[in-house]
Amino acid sequence: MDMRERLIIALDFSRADEALALVDELKDLVSFYKVGMQLFNAEGPGIIERLRKKGVKIFLDLKYHDIPNTVAGAAEVAVRQGVEMFNLHLSGGRKMVETTLARVNKTVEETAMPRPLLLGVTVLTSLDEKTLQEEIGIRRSLKEQVLYLAKMGEAAGLDGVVASPQELGLLRRSLGESFLIVTPGVRPSWAAPNEQKRITTPEEAIQKGSDYLVVGRPVTKNASPREAAKKIITEMNGGNNRC
Ligand code: C5P
Repeated sequence: MDMRERLIIALDFSRADEALALVDELKDLVSFYKVGMQLFNAEGPGIIERLRKKGVKIFLDLKYHDIPNTVAGAAEVAVRQGVEMFNLHLSGGRKMVETTLARVNKTVEETAMPRPLLLGVTVLTSLDEKTLQEEIGIRRSLKEQVLYLAKMGEAAGLDGVVASPQELGLLRRSLGESFLIVTPGVRPSWAAPNEQKRITTPEEAIQKGSDYLVVGRPVTKNASPREAAKKIITEMNGGNNRC
């Protein structure tokens, strides 16, 4: 796959015009965009249709976590909206994952819409081991919990997981080669880390086996988003050993 198709830009904006202007600026360079809670809550589902009209792919990052029937219902709507990728929290349990997958497949059959990739969120990268154990009450180590949930997702039939680039080695060793790993927390050497702590460069993330890189501020807050995206794609190509 062309590196340009493996870069997902996070549209973390509160207004549609900002998001749409960025997509125009990155035309022919970036074709995959992440819509998260901020933009979705500000603009509603109409933003998906507006982005789709520009011919780009959408990763709907709403991290569903609810009872199986409710998540399955939300997933059905996501399929009907034509997103290419969306996600749910694996800590919602295997039944939630399986019920959702079954509804996704049924909806795809009924509507002939393309089947979106369904990803699991393991442990949020903002949580450390102390918080995981002392506040949330998980007894496993953070890495064990990430791997445990990722394996559950794989066994339940998910397409992949969202993970910190620092977990790439562990996950790639333990999961099937075709199981997707999507990594935020990517920072080129020339960009500010912001509050992201467990970061790697684009080249490193590709080398360690990431399938898709999610990048926000290094592009969206750059004086020239287009130049920043070009540099990131060049760096991804430098590390390309999986294409
Ligand atoms: O601006 P930045 O590159 O840090 O944006 C990263 C994007 O990836 C944000 O939209 C953030 O919500 C998302 N994300 C993350 N860490 C996770 C999951 C998602 O940074 N574990």
